[in-house]
Amino acid sequence: MRRFLIAGNWKMNTVQGSAESLAGELAAAATSEEAGVEVLVCPPAPYLIPVREKIAGSAVRLGAQDVYFEAPGAFTGEICSEMLQDCGCTFVLIGHSERRAIIGETDQLINSKVRAALAAGLTVVLCVGEQLSEREAGQTEAVLDRQMEGGLEGISEQEAAAVVIAYEPVWAIGTGVTATPDQAQSAHEHLRSWVAARYTPEFAAGIRILYGGSVKPDNAESLLGQPDVDGALVGGASLKGNLFIPIIDAARKLAE
Ligand code: 13P
Repeated sequence: MRRFLIAGNWKMNTVQGSAESLAGELAAAATSEEAGVEVLVCPPAPYLIPVREKIAGSAVRLGAQDVYFEAPGAFTGEICSEMLQDCGCTFVLIGHSERRAIIGETDQLINSKVRAALAAGLTVVLCVGEQLSEREAGQTEAVLDRQMEGGLEGISEQEAAAVVIAYEPVWAIGTGVTATPDQAQSAHEHLRSWVAARYTPEFAAGIRILYGGSVKPDNAESLLGQPDVDGALVGGASLKGNLFIPIIDAARKLAE
């Protein structure tokens, strides 16, 4: 049985005070390890340490929103895996669609980041997803295949044990338009088959595939209830305890 992962991606939001109070709310809502649900929070880099202090002793995991692939050195503005670990991170998001579209990250760069993060011992949440025009042109599966092939190139099954996939259709991010449970399930099923073909069916049965894109308390249960949906990567609703905690509760209910 795959354990649900409910992850909050705060993106470029919060200031130290709001980051600390939100982290405190989450720590109070996830005080101890649970067999069925894991909770992750990914604050902006400057608030990793204050958030770490607030979630200390709780079951909430800490993750970063990006990482650079090089070892420490002359890379102005960048942050490497070792620094993230030093700040208490065990997870890192890589290849978020905003970084692909706005910053211009390529599959090749994303692959370098995945390799470096895995080599350092971080768990990678590799984000993939098609744009609306690609979906309308019937290219969804081809786009997902290309992003998976690119992102996981050269990654062995043993290394991929520390990879979580996040399916985030770009047209559903921050738009209030959510993929229907059927659309999510169909993409997740396709991603799991890709993993089965690339690795093994046994490995594919264990890998976690999260859905992201306008997840809210009122749609969480129907999305998380799909057989191949193993969690959620939540943007907007992760910025409010009274929206994020009910999403965790939806996973708890399904995990019972
Ligand atoms: P929203 O939940 O705001 O749509 O964002 C999803 C997302 O991009 C999470 O990484």
